[in-house]
Amino acid sequence: MDKKNVCVAIDGPAGAGKSTIARAAAARLGLTHIDTGAMYRAAALEAVRRGISLDDGPALGKMMGDMDLRIEFTGGVQRVFIGDEDVSEAIRTSEISAASSRVSARPEVRESLVRLQRELAKRGGSVMDGRDICTHVLPDADVKIFLTASLDVRAKRRLDELLEKGENASFEDVRADMERRDYNDSHREFSPLIRAPEATLIDTSDMTLDEAIEAVVSHIKEKA
Ligand code: DC
Repeated sequence: MDKKNVCVAIDGPAGAGKSTIARAAAARLGLTHIDTGAMYRAAALEAVRRGISLDDGPALGKMMGDMDLRIEFTGGVQRVFIGDEDVSEAIRTSEISAASSRVSARPEVRESLVRLQRELAKRGGSVMDGRDICTHVLPDADVKIFLTASLDVRAKRRLDELLEKGENASFEDVRADMERRDYNDSHREFSPLIRAPEATLIDTSDMTLDEAIEAVVSHIKEKA
């Protein structure tokens, strides 16, 4: 296999470090990182801004049809735009995390974003992370990984991120919010988060960030 054209799929729950690890691993291997969670977040941001009910499938479907969502890559790093506005940072708040979990349950939203994700993957040479990449978006991916960590570890990591950004948050609230998102993401009707049987499990609970990146990079090198 041509390593530069390898297609890597990574799934896992919220806060497992998927995006950070996938971005770093992609950079080390000269691949593009495609963050699908950011696309659901951008859809949620647009819905909140337009005042659309987060459970109104038909209205969300119509929004997907007329919103100008653009994904750009600079040096393998993804940026998300709505029209000319770069929303890559604005989609990272707790409000948008919760909203994205709700809009991502709607098939109208998923269909449109899965189409976009498959188009992006066709360019080749990418590491795509999300919840349904191994099972649904890229079932033929060359390398499949399920990245996880315990709920407490994931909540602590997310809390540190929020505090660093100056958001006011407590460990209990972040943990409860994450538990709720885990439940929603893995119990929804359409493309729930499940580990594909063929995906390799990597548990980062006892790893530093560098160790987790190294584990993912060596796994990709070994498989690709
Ligand atoms: O990975 P994240 O926290 O940025 O994802 C935001 C939300 O989008 C999360 O609640 C799950 C959802 N999501 C999804 O349903 N399918 C994906 N492929 C990626 C994310």
